[in-house]
Amino acid sequence: MCCMMGDGGGHHCPKKSDDLCSTVCGQESSQVSGMSRIRCILLGVDVKTWIFLFAVVPMCIFGIYLHGQKITYFLRPLWERPPKPFNVIPHYYNQNVSMENLCKLHGWGIREYPRRVFDAVLFSNEVEILNLRWRELHPYITQFVLLESNSTFTARPKPLVFKANREQFKFVENRLTYGMIGGRFKKGENPFVEEAFQRVALDQLLRIAGIMDDDLLIMSDVDEIPSAHTINLLRWCDEIPSVLHLQLRNYLYSFEFHADDSSWRASVHRYQSGKTRYAHYRQSDVLLADSGWHCSFCFRRISDFIFKMKAYSHYDRVRFSHYLNPKRIQSVICKGDDLFDMLPEEYTFKEIIGKMGSIPHSYSAVHLPAYLLENAEKYKFLLPGNCLRETT
Ligand SMILES: *[C@@H]1O[C@H](CO)[C@@H](O)[C@H](O)[C@H]1NC(C)=O
Ligand SMILES: *[C@@H]1O[C@H](CO)[C@@H](O)[C@H](O)[C@H]1NC(C)=O
Repeated sequence: MCCMMGDGGGHHCPKKSDDLCSTVCGQESSQVSGMSRIRCILLGVDVKTWIFLFAVVPMCIFGIYLHGQKITYFLRPLWERPPKPFNVIPHYYNQNVSMENLCKLHGWGIREYPRRVFDAVLFSNEVEILNLRWRELHPYITQFVLLESNSTFTARPKPLVFKANREQFKFVENRLTYGMIGGRFKKGENPFVEEAFQRVALDQLLRIAGIMDDDLLIMSDVDEIPSAHTINLLRWCDEIPSVLHLQLRNYLYSFEFHADDSSWRASVHRYQSGKTRYAHYRQSDVLLADSGWHCSFCFRRISDFIFKMKAYSHYDRVRFSHYLNPKRIQSVICKGDDLFDMLPEEYTFKEIIGKMGSIPHSYSAVHLPAYLLENAEKYKFLLPGNCLRETT
């Protein structure tokens, strides 16, 4: 009985402990003292079991420590249900089709004059992408509203990067409402709290910029760029939904790595004072197909990647300091791998497995922002075949 308890797996019983077992365990169990019972158990455990306890178990624990996040992501389909699917509105566009017909194709009428449009962003350090965004949108924007803080969401001090580069943005100067907000620098707080705080300040800045009812308001991160024709359509057509999410093509590092088309966080609102609140989560069930580009981590310099990785609301993903090693970052970029060595955030095993591994290279530079192609030399790092980044 003793050997069976110690052995655990029904293996053979070592000869010596066998004897001890039979002497100790052979007696009535009530007469066996606790100590000798333990000794009996320990001796009954064979070598393989000791190896198991002292080598395999710690290795398993170390493995879970290294890959715990991957394991929880992989098992996500078991603990989280996918959100309700969007009602996707087909999107019609060709530059040679009249606005009246485009509105009609979407089931909307055309207005006598276009709505005013406000583009509001929280800025961190995405200078290049901001330039592409504003060049793309500027024919149709009434006021560009930009807020920057001297704190990252993770409560680190941040230089005022926009302020330092403001002269690059002269082309919007007469339509720019710029705001700066001091960070609260609460160490150890959830980064989403600082982010929410900054979004509330952006609501105030929009009122200062003069937004009024039924003006269009674009709510999106800097790197979520609606295409110009999408915004033109929405400002000209009447009866568009009051809150409409934009489906964007997801790119990583540059337009060479087209990950999928499932970006949906950007939204366009018909502003209602007292009701519209600046947010970056799901606010309605309608999604307009193929409305622009979401280029994540599309930076010119390796140092910008490192800054963003640290400033990010998901700083917990930087689990090991070697993730911030410039050589590693450069090699990850060229391969289209994940900077944080994470699994895809999906809700079914089929999608997780389908998206595991590197993003395949794309050789298409068709339907990209016009300013990018007009200035291809300056923005080479965003085009296919140019994954090397500046190291300074
Ligand atoms: C598009 O319209 C322009 C002028 O409006 C015209 O010259 C051109 O031929 C049209 N292109 C196509 C492909 O229909
Ligand atoms: C951030 O800005 C606020 C308001 O201008 C200022 O009081 C504070 O000293 C600044 N903090 C840092 C770390 O720059």
